[in-house]
Amino acid sequence: MALLEIDNVSKSFGGVAANVEISFAVEAGEILGLIGPNGAGKTSLFNSIAGEVTPDSGEIRLDGQRISGLGPVACAERGIARTFQVVRSFDSMTVLENVMVGAFSRNARPQAAMRAAQETLEFCGLHGKADRPAWSLSPPEKRRLEMARALATQPRILLLDEMLTGLTPTEAQGGVELVRAVQRQGITVIMVEHVMEVVLPLVSRAVVLNLGRVLTIGAPAEIVRNPEVIRAYLGDRYAAD
Ligand SMILES: Nc1ncnc2c1ncn2[C@@H]1O[C@H](COP(=O)(O)OP(=O)(O)OP(=O)(O)O)[C@@H](O)[C@H]1O
Ligand SMILES: [Mg+2]
Repeated sequence: MALLEIDNVSKSFGGVAANVEISFAVEAGEILGLIGPNGAGKTSLFNSIAGEVTPDSGEIRLDGQRISGLGPVACAERGIARTFQVVRSFDSMTVLENVMVGAFSRNARPQAAMRAAQETLEFCGLHGKADRPAWSLSPPEKRRLEMARALATQPRILLLDEMLTGLTPTEAQGGVELVRAVQRQGITVIMVEHVMEVVLPLVSRAVVLNLGRVLTIGAPAEIVRNPEVIRAYLGDRYAAD
């Protein structure tokens, strides 16, 4: 059985069909890309997987158990964590305190939560910044903090929403290495990303959304050759020779 199953999920907001009959499965341990043009429905699908939004129809299952509609706390307890496209740190709190917010979900005692948060900061390359206020971090450090807060909840599946967007190539490369390290920890990753040079080498498969629907699912080499994907999203500059 696949770790995560998206089964015929649809969600509309007023007249806008954000997700339409979306189905795919995510295998344990994989890094899956979720790509497509602006407004294709990528963040909306993350919102449903993380329990923040209830699909109008269809179901999302983790290990065969329905998680859609349970709400964000229950989804986090079951092992779903996410980062946000627009970074959401608690600016007036320290970096360590921000990560402790995540760690408290698995550690009731403050001392234990602090230790877990410190370990996560080290893993994310932010150990030296623990006592800084979150607002003082650079943009790439804020992305790492966002990831650290999510990882501190000890997820089975990590949803990354444009974590590498807006970073320089060197900063993005650091992010890529961090995602690989997350995978080596046994965490399954679904990542939304627009920078194809970064995302395609990283993922085993990519799901392409367009106008709320799945356009295709395949290995990166198949995706870049798919005429429909090129037309809807990639454009000629990414087309394989
Ligand atoms: N809470 C909401 N209320 C109203 N409309 C929404 C809401 N959430 C999403 N939508 C609409 O659903 C569609 C899909 O949006 P979504 O944010 O999922 O796209 P996306 O693929 O993440 O795009 P981007 O690459 O720009 O982040 C858009 O038309 C958006 O305006
Ligand atoms: Mg989005």
